[in-house]
Amino acid sequence: MLQDRDRIFQNLYGYGDWGLEGAKKRGAWDNTKGLLEKGREWIINEMKASGLRGRGGAGFPTGLKWSFMPKPDAARPSYLVVNADESEPGTCKDREILRNDPHLLVEGCLVAGFAMGASAAYIYVRGEFIWERERLQAAVDQAYEANLIGKDNIHDYPFEVIVHHGAGAYICGEETALLESLEGKKGMPRLKPPFPANMGLYGCPTTVNNVESIAVAPTILRRGAAWFAGFGAKNNAGTKLFSISGHVNKPCNVEEAMSIPFRELIEKHAGGVRGGWDNLLAVIPGGSSVRCVPAEQIIDCPMDFDSLGKLQSGLGTAAVIVMDKSTDIIRAIARLSHFYKHESCGQCTPCREGTGWMYRVMERMVEGRAQKKEIDMLFDVSKQIEGHTICALGDAAAWPVQGLINHFRPVIEARIDSYTARSDKDAVKVAAE
Ligand SMILES: Cc1cc2nc3c(=O)[nH]c(=O)nc-3n(C[C@H](O)[C@H](O)[C@H](O)COP(=O)(O)O)c2cc1C
Ligand code: SF4
Repeated sequence: MLQDRDRIFQNLYGYGDWGLEGAKKRGAWDNTKGLLEKGREWIINEMKASGLRGRGGAGFPTGLKWSFMPKPDAARPSYLVVNADESEPGTCKDREILRNDPHLLVEGCLVAGFAMGASAAYIYVRGEFIWERERLQAAVDQAYEANLIGKDNIHDYPFEVIVHHGAGAYICGEETALLESLEGKKGMPRLKPPFPANMGLYGCPTTVNNVESIAVAPTILRRGAAWFAGFGAKNNAGTKLFSISGHVNKPCNVEEAMSIPFRELIEKHAGGVRGGWDNLLAVIPGGSSVRCVPAEQIIDCPMDFDSLGKLQSGLGTAAVIVMDKSTDIIRAIARLSHFYKHESCGQCTPCREGTGWMYRVMERMVEGRAQKKEIDMLFDVSKQIEGHTICALGDAAAWPVQGLINHFRPVIEARIDSYTARSDKDAVKVAAE
């Protein structure tokens, strides 16, 4: 189990003081100037060496992403944009950082912004996070007051931090839709290329990173890349916040070492599976946008990007949704299909039409009011959505349905059989009458 001293988020549960004094006592803002004095290249190389992969879902290497930003140019500012939209079902980790350790994020913005030559950070906060936005704003105000950020700050690097409140739409978490929304337009994803590093916010070079990716950066730089890289399997480094929900005895958020086996994660932190391990049906390990994994495959699986990828699923946001045998798995996945249908921005045909079509078929599958050949048809349609859309919401809608069919086809077939048997019985009864 990860030792407390190796936890970056020392106030994850909000027992301590979230404000500047408390944050400083826990090590934040400790000689930040010394970190900046080591230079941009040093920071980016350290981040690369740490092996940190983006915590927003896709797992793209953070240091490498920062290195894509062009050299600072007086005529064209660069921006860091922090994605605090956190709308992925099951995910509730960034919320805790905003509430309980916001200075880690504010300091991270300065350090990351400096490394990529950005003049400002925009933090885009999910619309429903009213209290979290107020807390974050209070931390930003404290940082301005203490002259840690701003025009003539004690770090000799002019840097602004702007908190922006979204209006509450899942699609605004997609990085280019987020940029559109920040610019005051409808949150609809942009076609790529151009990528944000070349043409992002207001047409300027921009890097979009998740809250956790930015908040861990100062500690990584202080404690050293080797320290962070020492946790987790190769290519899956570091400590990680897991949001554990569903049929466990104690749902929780916890920071653990990457690659911890699923069984250990659940036993040590979530009080085990409700009704014991034999009662486990399946797990959605990375937020709703990944394929589910049946019990026997996940129990001993290391919780990291590569191991879950090998199971045709993913670590995603590390929101671990545990389902026991009381779950109607068809209904559970149909509920996700409804979510994606509702959240599609409607810009591209496969997603706009396909998510609605899949949802309608899934609703019939829940009842069993379908033909068995429609299972393959559903799978085929999901494949026509996957990879054929402007943004990854199309994939996110397709994968849960594919996971269901891959692993639980007999359950769907049995549901169809029992519906058909019931209908046949009713037909005989009506004929007899
Ligand atoms: C539909 C959709 C919703 C997303 N929602 C979020 C979100 O709420 N928070 C987030 O950090 N990333 C979200 N992402 C991923 C972002 O597009 C982007 O990859 C991420 O913010 C990059 O940060 P990282 O490199 O630090 O992981 C979403 C992606 C898609 C396709
Ligand atoms: S995939 Fe869906 S959400 Fe993404 S741009 Fe296309 S229609 Fe919009």
